[in-house]
Amino acid sequence: MKRFDPADPTSDRPAEDEGGHPGAGRTGVIGTVPKFSRKTPDQSRSWSRHAARYDETFLSPYGPAVRNPLWDALDGVADRSGTVADLGCGTGPLLAPLLARFGKVVALDFAPGMLARARERIGPEDLGRVTFLERSMEDLDDLAGAIDVAVAVNSLVMPDVRRIHAALTAVRRALRPGGVFLGIAPSIDAIQYHTMLLYDHALESGLGPDEAETFATIHGEHRYYDFAFGRFQFRGLRQKFWQPFEFEHRFGKAGFRSVTIDRVFYPWDENFVGAAELADRPPSWDWFFRAEA
Ligand SMILES: C[S@@+](CC[C@H](N)C(=O)[O-])C[C@H]1O[C@@H](n2cnc3c(N)ncnc32)[C@H](O)[C@@H]1O
Repeated sequence: MKRFDPADPTSDRPAEDEGGHPGAGRTGVIGTVPKFSRKTPDQSRSWSRHAARYDETFLSPYGPAVRNPLWDALDGVADRSGTVADLGCGTGPLLAPLLARFGKVVALDFAPGMLARARERIGPEDLGRVTFLERSMEDLDDLAGAIDVAVAVNSLVMPDVRRIHAALTAVRRALRPGGVFLGIAPSIDAIQYHTMLLYDHALESGLGPDEAETFATIHGEHRYYDFAFGRFQFRGLRQKFWQPFEFEHRFGKAGFRSVTIDRVFYPWDENFVGAAELADRPPSWDWFFRAEA
């Protein structure tokens, strides 16, 4: 568990390469505040580079202590004899739960390093039910109307929202009429919530407003975020983080109906700076979404 001491706003500062949890932006890495870079390196290559250590460095929504509405939503799909697509499947942690529930699974990712790890997870008995596709989720024309359920967990993260729109439109067309799109997207407002808790904790510990702000800025790892546009940048990865009001807006523009959201709640654990001190506060979250084609 990371300790922090409001008497020293820069206390317990880990080294840059200590690792962390960039999947949902809780990196556990703190330091000074540089300018936000506007360069976007090739994201499929950046994701491939993170494949080997993905499971130990990214915050996972699949742990038993996480309250994740995705499980009930998957179980609530009336006809599960058809095809489910895991879009941005990464190293494939969702493939076994999908194989247990659905007839056929499409595992798609544009990062070959990720897809290679996903392939390793599938036993020979299930290989005939899984189709691996190495490509962007913007490129689904050949699947028009062929998908019953699409899932995207922390993969609708392209920093250019025009690409988010292209992906959403492609997914809507790939779904059969009435098909559902389920997923999780990293929350930028949860980072602001964590910042508020850190700031208040510092004030309550006796710091003045300026020092408390420095404390929250450093421990909230603000150097990795652009809060105005909801972007996160970490070791070559650039990701979009979502505001709750964006789901209706962006999914609606892409032609989805009945867009609803819910929270995925994470326990206060070592993934979060100040977890012990914040343990009696309501937990942090990412956004779960459900939409119909
Ligand atoms: C944070 S990881 C999540 C992986 C997996 N869904 C999980 O739950 O562990 C994001 C994944 O989405 C993939 N990804 C991001 N944008 C993509 C796109 N436009 N098309 C296909 N894959 C994409 C990345 O390569 C990466 O494997």
